[in-house]
Amino acid sequence: MTGTTPRIVVSRWIPDDAVALLREVGEVWLPEPDRALPAAELHEVLAGADAAVVTLSERVDAAFADAAGPGLKVVANVAVGHDNVDVPALAERGITVTNTPGVLTDATADIAFGLLLSVTRRLGEGERLLRSRTPWSFHLGFMLGSGLQGKTLGVVGLGQIGRAMAARAQAFGMSVVYTGRRRAPADVEASLDATYLPQDELLATADVVSLHCPLTTETRHLIDAEALAAMKPTAFLVNTTRGPVVDEAALAAALREGTIAGAGLDVFEHEPDVHPGLLDLDNVALAPHLGSATVETRTAMATLAARNVLAVLAGEPPLTEVTP
Ligand code: GLV
Repeated sequence: MTGTTPRIVVSRWIPDDAVALLREVGEVWLPEPDRALPAAELHEVLAGADAAVVTLSERVDAAFADAAGPGLKVVANVAVGHDNVDVPALAERGITVTNTPGVLTDATADIAFGLLLSVTRRLGEGERLLRSRTPWSFHLGFMLGSGLQGKTLGVVGLGQIGRAMAARAQAFGMSVVYTGRRRAPADVEASLDATYLPQDELLATADVVSLHCPLTTETRHLIDAEALAAMKPTAFLVNTTRGPVVDEAALAAALREGTIAGAGLDVFEHEPDVHPGLLDLDNVALAPHLGSATVETRTAMATLAARNVLAVLAGEPPLTEVTP
């Protein structure tokens, strides 16, 4: 520690409950009013930090750690995904990295299923029609969508959020197949009645492909033009993990050309930008990275991050560590 009171740098606004926890043990710096700090400015305020609380928009790498200096003990990422953090570079310097698994599972699965309903039942398109004051009248052929009952959900990555998505699909009368790096435990497969398939078979059979794998070097552009071409022309893609798992230009082309029927997207390859080709299409439901955006979930995420900081500063093991 640089002095007797630890310095805790928080990169962006977090809920008050979490700030209060941090203030119990240290002197907390956060941008007031809230704003995204350019890296150089963030690095300046990091000098002398014992702990940092960051969001997925900040790049946490060797330069970040070096800007903080040798006192930095812990970086708590307020997100479950940690592709923004160079975990090996921090581990090399003895810095603990933590994330926030578990507490955002239901909120994220809710958004994934919400986007799926939105695109299959054309809710956004219908709302745009009404708001544009376009004349309409009820008739039996008007704005027909696709039902989900009896269809197959293909989950890519049957982790906590993938399982929560599968459970929602089950409740809607869908059957579940999944793919991933490894088979899920037998009891998980049994409770979701989920069948493991190699990725190419899943893409060829699923009516809905929902992505729940982390972004890694292996999963970057996992869904590219070839993968999209392997999907059924009647199938939908849902992405609530990280934008770069999908080749967004290839997706825009596939949606335009009818290679697949539609998509529901909460995340984008170059956030906050959205591929312009997607913005003009009606067969895509869009949300601005709202997966975990409820008051309850964001409070739970930030307090978990704060508890991780408190644990490490007290010399105790963190609650949810990310290991290289
Ligand atoms: C949100 O995107 C998260 O990874 O928690």
